[in-house]
Amino acid sequence: PILELIGAPTDIGASVRGAGMGPDALRVADIAGTLVRLGFEVHDAGNLAGPATPWAAPTDGLRHLEETVAWNRAVYDAVDAALGAGRMPLMMGGDHSLAIGSISAVAWHARQRRQTLRVLWLDAHTDVNTHGTSPSGNIHGMPVACLLGHGPAALTGWSGERAALTPDAIRFLGIRSVDADEKRAIRAQGLRVFDMRHLDEHGMRNTMTEALQDVDDDTHLHVSFDLDCLDPADAPGVGTGVRGGPTYREMQLCMEMIADTGRLGSLDVVELNPALDVRNRTAEVAVELIESLLGKSTLVR
Ligand code: ARG
Ligand code: MN
Ligand code: MN
Ligand code: MN
Repeated sequence: PILELIGAPTDIGASVRGAGMGPDALRVADIAGTLVRLGFEVHDAGNLAGPATPWAAPTDGLRHLEETVAWNRAVYDAVDAALGAGRMPLMMGGDHSLAIGSISAVAWHARQRRQTLRVLWLDAHTDVNTHGTSPSGNIHGMPVACLLGHGPAALTGWSGERAALTPDAIRFLGIRSVDADEKRAIRAQGLRVFDMRHLDEHGMRNTMTEALQDVDDDTHLHVSFDLDCLDPADAPGVGTGVRGGPTYREMQLCMEMIADTGRLGSLDVVELNPALDVRNRTAEVAVELIESLLGKSTLVR
């Protein structure tokens, strides 16, 4: 497929500034040239526009709701346009709140194509807070809840259904920071969370085999890749890093196993924070992992 790079330069859903520089850091790490050398046709749609980050306190448990809606509207439209044109969208955030717009558009298209949507949420966090449970009010901690239909009216229902995702459509991987009420939500909704303990006990290979179970020819696979999934030693350029994550090597295998399914249909790369990075290392790591996700292999090509 033709890859469409969509830049969403904002930190509107976070409380640490800097994720707005993510798209350009990925470009500086030569994401486009690298994927062209891998054999893809790449179209860089440039950066979306949206409101500045006001840096206000939360109201009713939500920080920057209006601006977050505006950014997600722009992301929805761009991802919708890419899929409508038969291209594979690669949304470059920006913070993780933007997955609301991205995955809502993907869910709409998957339904039109009568495909089953499967989301892999690669993250240190489950991002399943609501405005009622969030300790921070930061909407980047809420996108999964919104996609499951639990959130403010302004951020739910975008896929044309009450919820873009049913609980069985998502698998979480790399999880090691879950707030008290998120634990309750995970149990109540039966979410499938492969946390770091599961990874340590079963290893990446067995865990990914389990996470990719039932992915078949009718599956649209969406990867939502929060760079704080990686151990901060390998990916220091993130705003909410948590010790004890998968290494670069483990994430390479994760990406290769996803590539092997041949079902990847869309991708978010979010939470890259160049202001906290070390000589753009995290952007470079992201580009290398995306290469593997898109099929690069050491011996074949
Ligand atoms: N659970 C915390 C919160 O709700 C952290 C969320 C971090 N999310 C992220 N996309 N980095 O504020
Ligand atoms: Mn996240
Ligand atoms: Mn995270
Ligand atoms: Mn298991």
